[in-house]
Amino acid sequence: PTPTKLAPSILASDFTRLGREIEAVRTAEYLHVDVMDGLFVPNISFGFPVLEAARRTRDALGSAQVLDVHLMIQSPERYLQAFADAGADSITVHVESTAHVHRCVQTIRELGKRAGVVLNPGTPLEAVRPVLDSVDLVLVMSVNPGFGGQSFLPQTYGRVQALRALLDELGSRAELQVDGGVTASNARALADAGASVLVAGSSVYGADGAEAGLERLRAALAG
Ligand code: DX5
Ligand code: ZN
Repeated sequence: PTPTKLAPSILASDFTRLGREIEAVRTAEYLHVDVMDGLFVPNISFGFPVLEAARRTRDALGSAQVLDVHLMIQSPERYLQAFADAGADSITVHVESTAHVHRCVQTIRELGKRAGVVLNPGTPLEAVRPVLDSVDLVLVMSVNPGFGGQSFLPQTYGRVQALRALLDELGSRAELQVDGGVTASNARALADAGASVLVAGSSVYGADGAEAGLERLRAALAG
């Protein structure tokens, strides 16, 4: 099996030194960018200027890191072009946030970007089935979206296993991403359940620095 990839979330980083916080995780395969609108989720994070800054940093570093934009916004179809223009490589939309998830996926792909769909913890897996053959990534939320630093919901293991089985049954090569409360204590079990990408905010950008946080996760996955 291919090694599990990591997606540090800049939501947990120190924005007074964002460039260095991104540089610290340059070896991770993805950089996770959480956009919240205060409507779909009860919090507001950041938008285009921060994504553009992350893109400039990534480009200046010359790394191959994928800018993975997680949209927690109502009716994301209004802004897909703008997020593509601001530098996203991959755009993930919540199935609960739009009446037109299929059209969103089509649009993202027409923009030449990787398309992802994401499920809240209370949403049945069946909700993504109709788009599974046309997405590059499926994200299973392991907390209710809106805030970093929340506790991992253990029901996620079963959902990841079931989604992995569904993807295998369809012959899909989409990435299976998990987001929320991922730490060195649950990373290995999530990989074993079938996750291929783990998002991690607080457990990367912890007190002892992002390099150490990333290393702890890598060690846990290898161990
Ligand atoms: C939550 C966001 C997550 C968040 C994860 O709404 O989608 O990506 O940054 O943070 P941790 O890893 O601290 O749970
Ligand atoms: Zn996220």
